[in-house]
Amino acid sequence: MIPYGRQWVDEDDIAAVVEVLRSDYLTTGPAVPAFEKALCQATGAAHAVALNSGTSALHAMYFAAGLQAGDEIITSPLTFAATANAALYLGASVRFVDVEPDTGNLDPERVEEAIGTRTRLIVPVDFAGHPADYDRLRPIAERHGLGLVADAAHSLGACYRGRPVGTLADASELSFHPVKPITTAEGGALLTDDPALAARAARFRTHGITKEPSELEQSDEGPWWYEQHDLGYNYRLTDVQAALGTSQMTKLGRFLERRRAIAAAYDEAFADLSAIELPGRRAHVEPGWHLYVIRTRDPRLRRPLFERLRAAGLGVQVHYLPVPWHPYYRALGFERGATPVAEHFYARSISLPLHPKLGPADVAHVIDVVRDALGEA
Ligand SMILES: Cc1ncc(COP(=O)(O)O)c(C=O)c1O
Repeated sequence: MIPYGRQWVDEDDIAAVVEVLRSDYLTTGPAVPAFEKALCQATGAAHAVALNSGTSALHAMYFAAGLQAGDEIITSPLTFAATANAALYLGASVRFVDVEPDTGNLDPERVEEAIGTRTRLIVPVDFAGHPADYDRLRPIAERHGLGLVADAAHSLGACYRGRPVGTLADASELSFHPVKPITTAEGGALLTDDPALAARAARFRTHGITKEPSELEQSDEGPWWYEQHDLGYNYRLTDVQAALGTSQMTKLGRFLERRRAIAAAYDEAFADLSAIELPGRRAHVEPGWHLYVIRTRDPRLRRPLFERLRAAGLGVQVHYLPVPWHPYYRALGFERGATPVAEHFYARSISLPLHPKLGPADVAHVIDVVRDALGEA
């Protein structure tokens, strides 16, 4: 089975991990700030806070951006449940707003009309690694005094109008799950230019506790003194994982190049297929190509095509079943039909294999299988 995504771990990644295992630190030590520095250097963000998952990075980001019980976020239904769940963790609620029909990203046209008195944050999701339309979302956030924070779990390394992901919103969350642009096994990070937001997130990842002399209310007790200022969690990344992350960051450019080449090969090979639509792409965007999502024109074709591709050995997937459709969200009062564009997008989607380890023969094989399954070999 050729999986839709997977990690690429080399001997030098393994050596970096082994070196940490032999060192004095296993949990957060010098490897974590080194990884954070590598993330800042690659993205141009002023601050990075590494955490133990993308989900905890979302939780920390919402907290640090001021989300409180009773507030509301606006986000896309076409995402992994974590984007919405992290708002619920803080006692906030979620308003799902519909997406653009071709990119699957939050539709700025619909965001403004959805803003209510409780709205606090706008949370675009860079679906499949294609940055959302930040220059249209930013003025809406500013007009209404809202924060703009990104779920950039898919889009490390992507660019929007020449600006890298990590600098496009007030803060951006990344995930380092193995299928993501780089991996730390489990892991995540928050990127921001705002030092106060970064400091709040850094405290949140370790119980809300600080040892920073400048943050202490009382510092004359002794060198052992530390203070808890917020209710935080243990969301720390380990040095073992951070060392893997730093090693992976040296390959991000190569990984992205490979992803872009595969996407270009698919675009070319499938251009003439009338039964499917190819991923939408804005001219001013350089996507990270985390996923390559084709959409059958006829929703009735999705399931048989999916099953034919699976039977032929392609580990295809569907991203994403709309979050409000989950039983948990239905029990909160969400109903089908509220975001028809996203639901129509979901009903026709299939994610094809796309990861840097796919060689030219694999890519040619995927192309043959897809054309064959559509009866257009
Ligand atoms: C869009 C999106 N947001 C958030 C997450 C959560 O990241 P993690 O699995 O690292 O907690 C994921 C991961 O699957 C994701 O795809």
